[in-house]
Order: sequence, then structure tokens, then C-alpha cells
Amino acid sequence: MKKDEKHLVVSAIKDGTVIDHIPSGSLFKVVDILALNCCHNQLTIGNNLESKQLGTKAIIKIADRFFEDEEVNRIALVAPKAKLNIIRNYEVVEKRMVEIPDQIVGIARCVNPKCVTNNEPVPTKFSVVSKKDVLLKCAYCDKITDQENLVIIKN
Ligand code: CTP
Ligand code: ZN
Repeated sequence: MKKDEKHLVVSAIKDGTVIDHIPSGSLFKVVDILALNCCHNQLTIGNNLESKQLGTKAIIKIADRFFEDEEVNRIALVAPKAKLNIIRNYEVVEKRMVEIPDQIVGIARCVNPKCVTNNEPVPTKFSVVSKKDVLLKCAYCDKITDQENLVIIKN
């Protein structure tokens, strides 16, 4: 199949953001983290698409929406290789990689069932002690949540 034909799998957008190279298993986590379930922008999603890098990947296209780094970097927890393509008048005008922030507020649950954040309406807060194999240290109980125990809080 020619590259141009592949592009038709999820059609092009005029203006907005294309988030590419999302691991297939993380698609709906990214949707939750960016709260895309409650936005009214035109949203097109492809999943289990062929990817040389990841085997299969997901892609999200959000028309007329442009994210601040701080907002979009939150998805790096579940999609560390995600690539943002900023589209203006059908052209890709900018490409950006996501980066795991040093601090994470909300998004993930603390692994410790006794943690205040699991028992009171207190938002979770972590410092990121490792970015490669994600390790999050809870600001309240100091327990470490690793990638394997990472549970994303739904909006
Ligand atoms: N795209 C889109 N609408 C446009 C232009 C591009 O949805 N008007 C999408 C493409 O489908 C692609 C992504 O934005 O998924 C990036 O486009 P492009 O840079 O042309 O593709 P590649 O060179 O394959 O990107 P890369 O190798 O950087 O991942
Ligand atoms: Zn905790």
C-alpha cells in the first residue's frame, strides 16, 4: 500500500492537533487524561494501526484544538513516544514530542490503599523519581507507584 493510501485510514484535518504514535493499549487512557470525552471538537480516532516503531499504534485527531505543553505532557505517562503534529490549513506546521513532567498532579492513583488520596477527596500528587521506567513518589505517603501499578483516574 502506498503511503498516501495509508493516510486515508483516518482522514486529514484542516486545523488542530494530531497526536500520533500512541501505544494501542493507551488510547483510552490518553482520552481520559485529556478529557476528550467531554469536548465538542471534531474528534477522529484510529486504533490498532500498523506502526514500524510500536507494532500497532493509535492516533487521535482533534480539530481546532491546540494544547499547552503542560496540558499535553501529562499523556507522556502512558504514551512516552507520542508525537504532536500541529496542523494549520492542512499543513503540518510544527512537530513536538511529549515529555514526562517532574511533578504530576491528579491523573494517577497512589498504589497505597491507606494513602489519604485513596480515602479523602484529596487530589493525588507525585514527584517523578524516574522517567525512563516511570516511578512516581507520592507527596503524601512517600510510597512509590511504578508503571505496573499505574492506574489512571477517570474524569
Ligand atoms: N495529518 C492530518 N491532517 C493534515 C496533515 C497531517 O491528520 N492536514 C496527520 C497525518 O495523517 C499524520 C500526521 O498528521 O498522521 C503527521 O503528518 P506528516 O508529518 O505528513 O506524516 P509523517 O511524515 O508520516 O509523520 P512522522 O513521520 O513525523 O510521524
Ligand atoms: Zn500516597
